[in-house]
Amino acid sequence: MFDEIEFEKIKRLPKYVFAAVDELKMAERRAGEDVIDFSMGNPDGPTPRHIIEKLVESVQKPKTHGYSVSKGIYKLRLAICDWYREKYGVELDADTEVVASMGSKEGYVNLVQAITNPGDVAMVPDPCYPIHSQAFILAGGNVHRFRLVLNQDFTPDKDAFFRNIETAMRESSPKPKYLVVNFPNNPTTATVDLDFYEKLVALARDERFYIISDIAYAEITYDGYKAPSILQVSGAKDVAIESYTLSKTYNMAGWRVGFLVGNPRLVGALTRIKSWLDYGMFTPIQVASTIALNSDQSCVEEIRQSYRRRRDVLLRSFANAGWRIDKPKASMFAWARIPEAFREAGSLEFSKTLLKEAKMAVSPGIGFGPYGDEYVRIALIENEERIRQAARNVKRFLRASSL
Ligand SMILES: Cc1ncc(COP(=O)(O)O)c(C=O)c1O
Repeated sequence: MFDEIEFEKIKRLPKYVFAAVDELKMAERRAGEDVIDFSMGNPDGPTPRHIIEKLVESVQKPKTHGYSVSKGIYKLRLAICDWYREKYGVELDADTEVVASMGSKEGYVNLVQAITNPGDVAMVPDPCYPIHSQAFILAGGNVHRFRLVLNQDFTPDKDAFFRNIETAMRESSPKPKYLVVNFPNNPTTATVDLDFYEKLVALARDERFYIISDIAYAEITYDGYKAPSILQVSGAKDVAIESYTLSKTYNMAGWRVGFLVGNPRLVGALTRIKSWLDYGMFTPIQVASTIALNSDQSCVEEIRQSYRRRRDVLLRSFANAGWRIDKPKASMFAWARIPEAFREAGSLEFSKTLLKEAKMAVSPGIGFGPYGDEYVRIALIENEERIRQAARNVKRFLRASSL
């Protein structure tokens, strides 16, 4: 009924590419197959005990049961400031430069809602975490995608990156107002150094655009690499806002805790829109999150080492099976180039083939943008034994297909 009433926003949202793989995964499972599932960046480990205990303690107190504070309770915002000072040497004002959100995705989407005028253009590297581009579409804006060109070691080709931005600023009409960056990157695992952010902040100043930086994987790093924050660049707060999440660092994905910090105008816009939309996270979740950020961080090292071990097992066992995957320096993913014989058919076809022939679910690179189509993303969310099992399945499948 009422078909003449069109939902224009929904029409602009494409069907999730990952749904095709999900459906096939469910069909395999219903048929009794044991599918080894590397498809979603959903941490499989438990939240550390001391964080759960704080939640339980706090939930016993009736005064925590009412509406909370939309922008985050003061103690949580203070803990966020302490965390930034401790990790990055960055000073933040808890009242004007920090806002807590129900996961960083919620914060990001509402930030974009708050700051996008109809037709505004945002620059987003491709491939990207899908909501980084779709949030602007949902908000009535447009996206200027440009290819994220990577070196062999998963660092962006700086010349190409900055040239692409300069070209967009010169040729795109209207001129882009926003740039989204995400390092360590989902899906490509790409990392940057502080020098990259220094150049970027200088360019944003010259060309007059805001930077939205997402550092969801800042703590999931290996082999001595440390991920910088854009806010370490002197004066970055003039042009940049940064989002972070407790989902990955503390295995708290279901809790929905994140925050955005930095430029007071952008933080203010998000705080204002959220004051209309929500009453804040459940207070015990905020109290426990405060503890997560400001107590002993040895649990983070354990989580990091667990992903590193899985990464190493994946690379070794898959190489042994005949599929060489380059080593990521960060994130909970491997960005695996599709073996040559299957590349031309594209990442969706290859993902389906892997499911059917090797009982292994991955995310097709095309789901993150057209430039991802030679790759699949493998999330390190299965244990080492299951990774080895997947490698055995892949070995059998590759042998059979080369016959
Ligand atoms: C780059 C990136 N940003 C944000 C998120 C969402 O995190 P949250 O759970 O805080 O919404 C993810 C989740 O996969 C991610 O990969």
